[in-house]
Amino acid sequence: MDFRKIADSYGTPLYIYDFDYITRRYLELKEAFKARKSIVFYALKANSNLSVLKHLRDLGAGCDCVSIGEVKRALFVGVPKYKIIFSGVGKCDAEIKEALLNDILMINLESFEEMLRVESIAKELEKVARISVRVNPNIDAKTHPYISTGLHENKFGVDIQTAKKIYLKAKQSNFLDPVGIHFHIGSQILEIEPFKEASKIVSDLVRSLNALNIELKFFDIGGGLGIDYNGEKTIDPYAYAQAVLENLSGLDVTLACEPGRYLVGNSGYFLTKVLYEKENSHKRFVIVDGAMNDLLRPALYNTFHKVELLESKNRPDSTLLCDVVGPICESGDFFIKDIKLPKTKHDDLIVVHSAGAYGFSMSSNYNSRPRVAEVAYESGKYRLIRQRESFEDLISKEISFLNSEKSE
Ligand code: LLP
Repeated sequence: MDFRKIADSYGTPLYIYDFDYITRRYLELKEAFKARKSIVFYALKANSNLSVLKHLRDLGAGCDCVSIGEVKRALFVGVPKYKIIFSGVGKCDAEIKEALLNDILMINLESFEEMLRVESIAKELEKVARISVRVNPNIDAKTHPYISTGLHENKFGVDIQTAKKIYLKAKQSNFLDPVGIHFHIGSQILEIEPFKEASKIVSDLVRSLNALNIELKFFDIGGGLGIDYNGEKTIDPYAYAQAVLENLSGLDVTLACEPGRYLVGNSGYFLTKVLYEKENSHKRFVIVDGAMNDLLRPALYNTFHKVELLESKNRPDSTLLCDVVGPICESGDFFIKDIKLPKTKHDDLIVVHSAGAYGFSMSSNYNSRPRVAEVAYESGKYRLIRQRESFEDLISKEISFLNSEKSE
């Protein structure tokens, strides 16, 4: 990829995604699961740009959504409704209603109380809600605490006993149809063992439900496959598939998985330009035009993204390590700390790697900074897939209230 050309054409800061990479990752995962009928439900929270969704839809992916906004995005780009799952620990009534009216594949329940609510809304609408239950298998995914979700101390899903209660009640209801079972134990997981253990626990539950005449069609193993940010050894997709499938023998279920980061994480780069370099008695700072509002992960989780200075040949080395930081007035506004970089100058280009997942999708307008543009790279060509926001975009929802009367 010619990062300089992209930056010159579209400006910075900017996200760019390699769509051919996304294709390769998708096909690799499908291939790994080919021993069984499988559907990849892309977790669009990782990157919900419509062009990314359309690309994955064209490959055959479904979508795992965690808000009605995400469901609508998936429908908008033509993902078939029978390939859309609605998950999430707190769905509100309006969201449940709309999901039912759109007749999506299934709603993932996360509590007994939620089941009652879905049942009553389905009854009101005279519909039958297809449901699955998110089981919390109490497995330590050994990942960052903020993105670990499979332990009882986490807010997600229900324990085995509650899951059974939900299935039994759903089976008797005229308005609920239990069709799936689900677990998602965390994100950026680099060890296979937690997947193995969780699949074992949940497949045993499926067997005990079968004994109660509750037959499920979908076995949904969530997402969570970790990627290489900093040379980490990642899980081989074939070993991953094997670890899950070996627990499913004798079960007539379609395998569902919900990868987000795995598909798009390393497709993406964040481009930002150097504004200034400054030093004090202890430290050197490279100040760039991108900031924590554009790419929050380092600030929020202190996670590593490889940072590279482009066109750094023949630059004098600097003896001082540096922090690459944004312009926002917060100490958390950094991309990386204490790295070795040659001396930089104004307009140098910095590439932040592995930025395709949870980059743009977690960005905000903090400091009244317009959200950045997004570009796709496919078959050797570039195209804009999201326009940089303007000042007008920033104020458009407020402007009509400017001169309104104060209400008592
Ligand atoms: N399914 C469910 C129910 C999820 O909650 C998630 C992610 C996924 C699938 C996709 O997980 P993935 O394959 O991408 O690991 N913002 C954090 C990650 C939060 C993940 C939340 N759940 C980060 O930047 O690392």
